Amino acid sequence: MPTPPRFVVIGNPVGHSLSPAIHAQFAQETGIALEYATLLAPLDDFAGAAHAFFGNGGRGANVTLPFKIEALRFASSATERARRAGAANVLTALPDRIEADNTDGAGLIADLASNLGVSLAGARIALVGAGGAARGVIAPLLAAAPALLVVANRTLDRATALAKEFAPLGPVEPRSLAGLAGGAFDVFINATSTSTHGTPLELPAGSLARGALAYDMAYGPAARPFVENARALGARASDGLGMLVEQAAEAFCVWHGARPSTAAVLAAMRARG
Ligand code: ATR
Repeated sequence: MPTPPRFVVIGNPVGHSLSPAIHAQFAQETGIALEYATLLAPLDDFAGAAHAFFGNGGRGANVTLPFKIEALRFASSATERARRAGAANVLTALPDRIEADNTDGAGLIADLASNLGVSLAGARIALVGAGGAARGVIAPLLAAAPALLVVANRTLDRATALAKEFAPLGPVEPRSLAGLAGGAFDVFINATSTSTHGTPLELPAGSLARGALAYDMAYGPAARPFVENARALGARASDGLGMLVEQAAEAFCVWHGARPSTAAVLAAMRARG
């Protein structure tokens, strides 16, 4: 029997990653044979670890923190969405090169639109944060035709720079965190590292419209304080577990040409706690 193609998720740390379980369940559901493992890369040698993996016949890698920017540099070509994001969460071995892709934005849009039933067209969206996580989702959010996308950040200059860069793609404006007060947004997305650092992001007074969705791109216990604060204010709220599953489904589709359904996998990951 031929050995199945090999895939990994590369990160540091990476032991906690749900990606192997997600891809294993997609493989079972679609009947596609594959191996999927974690690969811990040294903090100072992502390229060495990636070279070794692909040099030994590896077919594809998901890339997680802190290597997404390096992954884009490592690849010899990149999709438009990876170039726009300035980072890659997917590397694929093509016959003549390694190609970088970014499925995080597609994952967020699929979770918001398909799983959470949010209609983004015509919506007022606040995206908080101006680091790699925020940058990666601006173009896909603008492609969903919102009425307005406000990028807000503690350091206003970084939000201003992002808004300027993406202005050709749609209605995007920078704001300070305090500037979100009274904004009555339909969708409020936390793309800062606050949840991961255990310092939950405050929701400024009046920043949520009636029926708004507050969304944290972090997931699990880290996102809980933000999600609970938003619910206490009467909003719908979600962590980013669905985004994780949806970005994996999009990567699976890039690699295997088959789109797995995500509902059962999301429920299984949710049940893990
Ligand atoms: P990532 O790649 O995960 O986005 P990053 O580039 O370090 O990580 O960016 C972290 C983001 O979280 C930034 O927008 C940061 O705001 P600054 O640009 O002002 O640093 C934001 N952030 C981190 N801690 C924060 C806090 N306590 N309150 C508000 N924003 C915070």
